[in-house]
Amino acid sequence: MKKEFGVKPYLFPMPTYMIGTYNEDGTVDEMMMAWGGICAEDMVALNLEADHKTVANLRARGAFTLAIPGTDTLTESDFFGIASANRFPDKFERSGLHAVRSAHVDAPVVEEYPVTLECAVERMEDEPYGLRVLGRIVNVLADEKVLNDEGEIDVSKINAFLFDQVKFGYYAVGEKIGQAWHSGADLVKN
Ligand SMILES: Cc1cc2nc3c(=O)[nH]c(=O)nc-3n(C[C@H](O)[C@H](O)[C@H](O)COP(=O)(O)O)c2cc1C
Repeated sequence: MKKEFGVKPYLFPMPTYMIGTYNEDGTVDEMMMAWGGICAEDMVALNLEADHKTVANLRARGAFTLAIPGTDTLTESDFFGIASANRFPDKFERSGLHAVRSAHVDAPVVEEYPVTLECAVERMEDEPYGLRVLGRIVNVLADEKVLNDEGEIDVSKINAFLFDQVKFGYYAVGEKIGQAWHSGADLVKN
């Protein structure tokens, strides 16, 4: 027996990503985003409410960073999803986190976030359902502490967390339980 819920945005898990931009005075804004992700090999899609300060910054600067927060910054990252820089000009300063300028785009890189995609705004599409921003990935930065012995990113070291769109919980990412394009491969064989 399955229960019907009607029209709801009920997908789980949803990611938690942080969009970093510069305000007009050069201070940093960060916002939490769950509705978006990779949409091509070198592209990301962000689905945003048009009145966010982040959106004004994206229009003005044409650049942003998209970072994966770890559980060690859950408090600050959630705060970035509550407070708007429209109301809190000192939003980033309040968090106590630190940022440096990206070497590739006109946007900040938060030092405490382990993985950061540096992106250039490719398109901003105002649709009846909301604003979609397409960004081109120009570089990926990762802290040494999340690299394996071969110098590749070990995602288990990021300590990423997920968002629950139904009850608004955050969940730690669990153990590795399979290998994509391998776990189901036996069913391909005759
Ligand atoms: C878990 C979580 C996920 C969110 N996802 C989005 C999202 O995908 N798109 C969006 O426009 N706002 C999203 N928000 C809301 C913004 O992060 C929030 O409104 C923020 O204050 C905007 O900051 P700004 O005005 O400084 O840009 C999310 C908030 C939380 C807590």
